[in-house]
Amino acid sequence: MKGIKLFDPVIDEHEVKKVVKTLKSGFWASGAGGGQVHEFETKFKTFINSKSCVAVNSGTAALHLAASLCNIKGKEVILPSLSFVSTAHAIMYNGGKPVFVDVDPHTLCIDPEEIKKKISKKTKCIIPVHFGGIPADIKRIQKLSKSNVMIIEDAAHACGSQYNGKKIGSHGDFVCFSFHPVKNLAMPAGGLISINNHNHKKMADDLKSKRWCGISNRKYTDYDVDKIGWNFYMNEFSAAIGLAQLEKIQKMNNKRKSIAKIYDKELNVSRKIPFTKTCVYHLYWICVNDRQFFRKKLLEKGIETGTHYKPIHQMSFYKKSIKLPITEKIAKQIVTIPIHPNLTENNIDKIIVNVNRFAS
Ligand SMILES: Cc1ncc(COP(=O)(O)O)c(C=O)c1O
Repeated sequence: MKGIKLFDPVIDEHEVKKVVKTLKSGFWASGAGGGQVHEFETKFKTFINSKSCVAVNSGTAALHLAASLCNIKGKEVILPSLSFVSTAHAIMYNGGKPVFVDVDPHTLCIDPEEIKKKISKKTKCIIPVHFGGIPADIKRIQKLSKSNVMIIEDAAHACGSQYNGKKIGSHGDFVCFSFHPVKNLAMPAGGLISINNHNHKKMADDLKSKRWCGISNRKYTDYDVDKIGWNFYMNEFSAAIGLAQLEKIQKMNNKRKSIAKIYDKELNVSRKIPFTKTCVYHLYWICVNDRQFFRKKLLEKGIETGTHYKPIHQMSFYKKSIKLPITEKIAKQIVTIPIHPNLTENNIDKIIVNVNRFAS
């Protein structure tokens, strides 16, 4: 019997046609970001109701570029340790100092009370992560941050999630998305920065130059380079697939939510991600006592699981003698189980039966 994957992108004829069309067009990529990359930016901007969007080639690049706008060199940046390492790398790329804080045990998003304890004159930026798709409390974090403290939302898990009745990506100054193949909106590789402050147009132009080696003042084949930049632009294949995915993102997210609702009712575990209609459930996490045993048993039954995440402050590159009790406890117990839209009713039943059988 075919196993049940932890992640599985949803593709149909639409993606296939778009990829073949792009292949045959001979126009595969352009640092200038015309073609389908521009179309994707424009349509995604409408989807999340953002002021400006800049597409790049990963969520990591999106965080890197957003942090480049926040003058963090030599300054402290507060972030949760329970995240993918790119959240912290974005700070290091820009010469900042990561200050890891604990998460709320209920949502696993950064705990505003913990930010309060760590925020100081040295703080230049805060990076909340919308963990699993659950929106972090942006308003409270905005209230806590002094006027010169910037906020970059890491929305890698939250494509389509809502906060205060509006989609994530429409609130904060800088909101970064990932379109990695496992994400709710999947591409071979991709990311995007949404900018919502009064200076959004200028900042978007700045990032469009930075995503293509710092190229500026382009007139046909002539150009200048007025800053350092990177090779971070999105390619046409990613944009083509992204456009096909964007047409069905609502439907795919609704399927994730409906599975989450079933899991919420049926799974007998000590702790699990809360159910809320505002979350698009990129991840569905539960806690178990004997994780090794649990994961082994599920794998024997053909069900893949994951561990999101080993805390960043415990990675050797970032190792710090700090204590984050909630993060450290959760990190030993957390298991992510499949929740993608390709799951059949039989798959869902099988997952529920086996989670309830082997979780303790
Ligand atoms: C929370 C978080 N931030 C950032 C990233 C980086 O995104 P990408 O893999 O597209 O570079 C990821 C990807 O897994 C993520 O989960």
